[in-house]
Amino acid sequence: MRIADRIKRLGTETAFAVGAEAAAFGAKGNRVFPFHLGDMNIPTPSTVVEGATKAIADGKTGYCPNAGIPQLREAIAADVSASHHTAYTMENVVVQPGGKPTIGKFLAATMNAGDEVLYPNPGYPIYESQIEYLGGVAVPYGYLEVEDNFDLDFESIERGLTDKTRILILNDLQNPNGAELSPEQRSRLARLVVDNDLYVLCDEAYFDMRYAGSSTSFVEEPGIAERSVILYTFSKKFAMTGWRLGASIGPREIVDVIAKINVNDESCSNHFVQYGGLAGLQGDQTEVQAIVKMLEARRDAAGAGLNAIDGIRCIVPNATFYLFPNVTEVMQRKGLTDYEEFRRAALHATGVSFCTRLHFGRALPNEPLQYIRFAYSGIDVADIEESMVVFKDWCEA
Ligand SMILES: Cc1ncc(COP(=O)(O)O)c(C=O)c1O
Repeated sequence: MRIADRIKRLGTETAFAVGAEAAAFGAKGNRVFPFHLGDMNIPTPSTVVEGATKAIADGKTGYCPNAGIPQLREAIAADVSASHHTAYTMENVVVQPGGKPTIGKFLAATMNAGDEVLYPNPGYPIYESQIEYLGGVAVPYGYLEVEDNFDLDFESIERGLTDKTRILILNDLQNPNGAELSPEQRSRLARLVVDNDLYVLCDEAYFDMRYAGSSTSFVEEPGIAERSVILYTFSKKFAMTGWRLGASIGPREIVDVIAKINVNDESCSNHFVQYGGLAGLQGDQTEVQAIVKMLEARRDAAGAGLNAIDGIRCIVPNATFYLFPNVTEVMQRKGLTDYEEFRRAALHATGVSFCTRLHFGRALPNEPLQYIRFAYSGIDVADIEESMVVFKDWCEA
């Protein structure tokens, strides 16, 4: 069969392949400690489940508006306006089947062939995939490991800027490294964006997944909201990864185009799931807060475990549910330079399954430091603690 040429430019999320490999290893009777995928082994809050179940019983099973049911659009606008100190209305919100669709739809709406897009690398791999698939030029920027954070590497952004740069993708509260911009970095970046007349995709998948302090959105900076679309998702906050519910939020001109793409792609997001999300936003938040508490305990266990290993340095961020330990010394000790060899050796020796830097965008030439990513959203504290004992023994051997 002949496959279209454009598909050669389409990337993928290789973390799913690591999951399949770990499952195959587990199917042979081996113990697996799953740190590879940002999925969650935590039940969806009962408010959401009951809202969706009632909607099914009430017959909310047919098509619904392409942009989402008005009640949910209003509730999302209210939620984001409150947390972002902005004045979004339902006209600024278009519901999506998850957070991910916003990436491709935003680029389809705003990027012409040949436009250059600055995107984080290491970063969520779908940015690179969608930029290239849709005919843009993916220009990576990076982060630098400092004392207790990964700092945005402004020089790499400035190096990447040309007169063809049209878009910046920003994932503040970052996957995979947990990075968060400081107020100074936010305003410096905002000036750069406005001066260069860029559009922005603000991927805020982890906006509510934080254990200390509070999140501040990049759209609060002067001049930014009117040129930005926010990627909003229910997946993490409400432990709804498999339900597929999210939204694109931004200026009406772009949101209307994205709604038109919805018509072409999936007609509408799942009707009764939207009532589940609505009930989640409007209902009691006790279970939602409990999810964050549970994740915090896991972060503490995994962070302490990794930092106790000789040769690993691990920043423990206040947000997301990822850790991005620096394993340069451990890889050197083991005489390994190849990430995949390291990952597989660890899986087969210990059952500890994780992704590496390679799963977060094409590696750049001559990267001096080596990183792996631990997602702790799908593994309980007791298993984390057990895994850290075997992983330490293996790393230090
Ligand atoms: C940075 C980032 N953006 C977007 C997504 C997509 O989220 P969703 O599962 O809601 O599509 C993820 C999921 O892991 C993510 O890490």
